[in-house]
Amino acid sequence: MLIMISTRIAILISGRGSNMTALADAVESNRIPNAEVSIVISDKADAAGLKLAHARGIETLVCERKGRKREEHEAGIIAKLQEREIGLVCLAGYMRLLSPCFIQAFTGRILNIHPSLLPSFPGLDAQRQALDHGVKFSGCTVHFVDDTLDGGPIIAQRVVPVFEDDTEQTLANRILAEEHDVYAEAVALVVSGDYEIVGRQVKQRAKAIK
Ligand code: GRF
Repeated sequence: MLIMISTRIAILISGRGSNMTALADAVESNRIPNAEVSIVISDKADAAGLKLAHARGIETLVCERKGRKREEHEAGIIAKLQEREIGLVCLAGYMRLLSPCFIQAFTGRILNIHPSLLPSFPGLDAQRQALDHGVKFSGCTVHFVDDTLDGGPIIAQRVVPVFEDDTEQTLANRILAEEHDVYAEAVALVVSGDYEIVGRQVKQRAKAIK
């Protein structure tokens, strides 16, 4: 009998937590098979997503930086993740850059979602950047996290139109609906292990015929 080991996922947030909720829903409905959301960690004590996670029975943890050096702050988080044998870290609106230490501790096992079609508009205020640039399409990107700003290999993207009368908020809402769907799709792929990274390309492996 083949026993599938469940991948333990940690989700790092700083705020609202709608992507965290979408991932937890996708795990619950088995859209992301062989996975469990083991912990939600926030660097902000008042992050609304903490209450949402707690209400679903997910362990939550607040790890504030409190003037500490980035490495010191992260060491606490890394220790918690390792204690719980976390196999995948999903950043979902986590508003801090990870240090090389963190990235090395979870090489190839950290994902992020960004509200633009990378490599366009990395960093903060991606929707504002898209509007200011006058693009006709934008979207969202799920990518592996490496030591570049929003620059790791791209796992999945979704495109949305940008309308002339869009505000930052209307565009953000349109993108967010796609984020919720594409993040689950990308996490399912990574958990399945059915991919390889060739250069910068994340390629889905053809499924073996049984
Ligand atoms: C999302 O737009 C995500 O792409 C960006 O931060 C926002 C987080 O929203 N990184 P939420 O907390 O998941 O609702």
